[in-house]
Amino acid sequence: MKVTKTSISKLNTTDFSNLPFGTVFSDHMLICNYKQGKWEEPEISPYGPIPIHPGSQVLHYGQSVFEGMKVFKNDSNELLLFRKDENLKRLNQSANRLSIPVIEESIFMNGLDNLLKIDSEWCKAEQGYSLYIRPFIFASSECVKASASEEYTFVIITSPSINYYAGEINVVIEEHYTRASQGGVGYAKAAGNYAASFYPTKQANAKGFQQLIWTDAKEHKYIEESGTMNIWFRIGDILVTPALSDSILGGITRDSIVTLAKDNGIKVEERRILITEVIEAFNNGMLKEVFGTGTAVTVNPINSITFRENRMIIKAQNDSFALKLKKQLQGIQKGSIVDIYDWTSKVTD
Ligand SMILES: Cc1ncc(COP(=O)(O)O)c(C=O)c1O
Repeated sequence: MKVTKTSISKLNTTDFSNLPFGTVFSDHMLICNYKQGKWEEPEISPYGPIPIHPGSQVLHYGQSVFEGMKVFKNDSNELLLFRKDENLKRLNQSANRLSIPVIEESIFMNGLDNLLKIDSEWCKAEQGYSLYIRPFIFASSECVKASASEEYTFVIITSPSINYYAGEINVVIEEHYTRASQGGVGYAKAAGNYAASFYPTKQANAKGFQQLIWTDAKEHKYIEESGTMNIWFRIGDILVTPALSDSILGGITRDSIVTLAKDNGIKVEERRILITEVIEAFNNGMLKEVFGTGTAVTVNPINSITFRENRMIIKAQNDSFALKLKKQLQGIQKGSIVDIYDWTSKVTD
């Protein structure tokens, strides 16, 4: 793999105490092009602008997919990746749906390892720090015909991040706009899914909500996800989360929490959830917790849900399942709790 290192590192001029999510980038990136039916040799170069034709198909038709994953440093200063094979699997599922050629395992895994070794200093070992990794593929043929591109570019960039208190999360149930529909691309991390969510999200923000809860496209009766998180309800002492479908993104955090919860003796139900069931549980005093899960936040408690004009305030629990599972997951990710699941892997020389 060709490697060109930067001559001016930004490491010493970066303020690691102030890292607004996704705004600071490490020194290097990995780039690999797909031309004439095959992925070429990947290359690591200094992070910087990529030349792109105005006629590049991604700019016109949004043929692009991405991933989001994290690497942590344990107390011995070793880099620990979390469930990297799941990210590759999902990237390739997304690629298939968007008619993008899949990435070979060796390109993804070796590229990741080499890039992380070079920018290892960007991942701080102190509690709360991680390095967010953003692999993505976009259509790069210079052609404005509405069809799948012939050429693609695969890139990995990384961004140092720190856990922060997101403040109260008040969400509103969305009954008009739709994130994803049956037969669509909701289960894929397709760039366009996110573009389409910004307008309804901004409207919810303007009304004072931090996020919205997406409902099914057909009837707007069933709960799907909250913003870019999978959503969970603790009803009594059972954790309920929507079953995966082609309109829900199968979160890797969601999958990890299903396993951890069950191993903690907590009953988990993955099934369809009616909005009316949530309201009923709240009215009966059975809705004890609501939380979202995702790579960026791990586990994020939700403070209130508004449906039409009614606000349901979820009081904090002393025996919070969300906080207990969050602690365990973060411990495994950081290497401070023994990983009996084989979820973590060291970045090796
Ligand atoms: C729409 C959506 N749902 C759920 C998730 C959570 O997935 P994961 O836990 O793999 O980060 C994400 C974030 O990646 C997302 O974008």
